[in-house]
Parts: sequence; structure tokens; C-alpha cells
Amino acid sequence: MKKILVTGGLGYIGSHTVVELQKNGFEVIIIDNLSNSSEDVLKGIHSISGITPIFEKLDLKEKTKVSEFFDRNSDIDGIIHFAASKAVGESVEDPLLYYENNLNTLVYVLQECKKHQIKNLIFSSSCTVYGEPDSLPITEEAPVKKATSPYGNTKQISEEIIFDLCSVSDLKAIALRYFNPIGAHETSEIGELPLGVPLNLVPFVTQTAAGVREQLSVFGEDYPTVDGSCVRDYIHVVDLAKAHVISLKRLLEGKNTTSFEVFNLGTGRGSSVLEVIKAFEKVTHQKLNYKIVDRRPGDVISVYADTKKANNVLGWKTEGSMEDALLTAWNWEKKVRNIK
Ligand code: UD1
Repeated sequence: MKKILVTGGLGYIGSHTVVELQKNGFEVIIIDNLSNSSEDVLKGIHSISGITPIFEKLDLKEKTKVSEFFDRNSDIDGIIHFAASKAVGESVEDPLLYYENNLNTLVYVLQECKKHQIKNLIFSSSCTVYGEPDSLPITEEAPVKKATSPYGNTKQISEEIIFDLCSVSDLKAIALRYFNPIGAHETSEIGELPLGVPLNLVPFVTQTAAGVREQLSVFGEDYPTVDGSCVRDYIHVVDLAKAHVISLKRLLEGKNTTSFEVFNLGTGRGSSVLEVIKAFEKVTHQKLNYKIVDRRPGDVISVYADTKKANNVLGWKTEGSMEDALLTAWNWEKKVRNIK
């Protein structure tokens, strides 16, 4: 049984990936500092797969403890590295926090890969590396633009750090550039648990429908898009999780063609904020209280993925629709809030 370390494995995308890894016969060890997650997620994972993964509470910033952890677990076959901070606005206010949380920790993980000959790494990257794209859909060849936030910059620099190490060592890595992950597991046992006021669209939508938030603000109606609101590529989190397992197997089986590869993970379809709201209302039969407000500074107008590379090279394609994802997100919210 191959042993896979999942950093940030109790988080939103991490927990869904853990379940898919278990389904595929991998032994999973999770490390997580619980900064944006909870140990209860282990119960959710167990209810789906029947297996409780090994878990250690560990903050990757604590270099000595990280080193001790790897000394105890030097038989790890691969790492999926999710652990990172992801709030764009917070990163603008406190850039050093983001450079420390997202970059120092990556360097420590890579140092341990080198020390213990761990050769397979999947990295959690983002479509934010493309900035405002020159053309749509976005292929992996699109230029990486100057980052508009320290958060985005950490994703760009992380990719470069990993690339540099892959160039001079046995490390093989795949960076997965996510578009907008939404939804929850169909069982409603795991899902997204934002702390405080959600910054992302779908958790705000579900919390508004649940009555936790009074009103959703739609940021901008004068963009050059189908209806004036921003366009994104919303991908079901379970599809995203499956892509991690496929990518990991690609590395473990030596099917990668270069030591550092990147793939876009999206659906290929762009949806506007207003279209998301309409789809949510339709599948959940909930009326959403929303109002149009000013643009949110820093938002790009329109992004959606060209999925050909992921489809053809990884042999992966999305199965869940945006409507499925919105319904699972709502079912999860209802479970969390005890709404019948
Ligand atoms: C951005 C980044 C993404 C990053 C994520 C981290 C881009 C293209 N995407 O996602 O890579 O991982 O931040 O959080 O840079 N919206 C509203 N009302 C709300 C919330 C959002 O109208 O209350 C709108 C936004 O203006 C946007 C869309 O919904 O058009 C999606 O927003 P959000 O969920 O925050 O994700 P991104 O900003 O696209």
C-alpha cells in the first residue's frame, strides 16, 4: 500500500482528496495545523470511506517538528501539498504572513523530500497565476502575469521553487491550477467550512439562503460579460479531488513526460455570478436575497479553463455539473445548520 502524505488534509479540497485516495487504496497520513479546519473532519472522512486516516496536528512553519515528523515517516511515497493560506484580501494586508505561511513551509517540505528521497509531489496551485488573461479559454501556455496579490504571488513563486528543485534532483512534481472549486461530497459528510464571514461566492450564497447572512452582494454589473457580472469556471470539488489521485498515479507510475508539469483544472465553461445565483435558486428552490453593489477591487473580469491538456494527457474530465455542485453545497450547508 503506497503511503501518501496530505498536508492541509482536513481542509476543503484536502478532505475530499483524502476520500478519493482511500477509495483508490492509498494509505493516507494527514498533517494540518487546524488554522482553517477542524478535527471533526476526520469523522466525516470515516463515515464516507470507513477508514480514519492517520492524523497529526502539525504546523509546517515549525521546522524542527516538521523534520522530526519526516524522520518518523521517511517511508512516504508521495505528497499532496495543500497546506497554505488562501484569502486574497488578507494577503494584501499582511503579505509577510502569506510569504511565511505559503513559501517557508513549502521550502521545509521540499527539504524533507530531498533528505528522505521522496520523489513525487502534487502541488495545489491556482488559475490566479494567469491574472487577467489575454484570451479565453486559458491554456497552460498562457503567460503567467504579474500577480495582483501576495497570495497569487506565493502560488507563482511556489511553482518556480518546485520547478527549480525538479531541475536538479529526482523530484517529480505536478502543479494543478484550480479554477473555482465549489460543492461538497454527495453524502454531506464533508464540505467547505469557512471560518467567519465567507469571502468566496458559493459559501456566501449558501449561508445567505440558510439565513446566516442577510444578503449577498454581487460585486459589479458593468463588466463586459454576458450580463455584466464576473465570469468564473466553477468546478465540483469531487472532480477536483479525483484529478489529484490521477496526477499522483501518473507520477508514481512514471508516466510524466517532464519532471515538472502543470495542468488546468476547470470545466471549460464560464458562468457569471448572476448565472450562479439563478442556477442555485433553480436547483434548491430557494429564493436568494441579493443586491448589486460596486466592483470588488482586484477581481478579474472573466476566466475559464481550456481543459484539453487535462482531458487528453491526464485522461481526466469533470463529471459533476455546476448545478450538482450547488445542490451538494446547499445540502452540506443545511446539515451544518441543522436545517431540514
Ligand atoms: C480568487 C482567485 C482564486 C483563488 C481564490 C481564493 C482568480 C481568478 N481567482 O477566486 O485563484 O484561489 O480567489 O479565495 O484570481 N462574488 C460576489 N459576491 C461575493 C463573493 C464573490 O459577487 O460575496 C463574486 C466575485 O466578484 C467573483 C466571483 O463571485 O466574480 C467568485 O469570487 P470568489 O469565490 O471570491 O473567487 P475568485 O475571486 O474568483
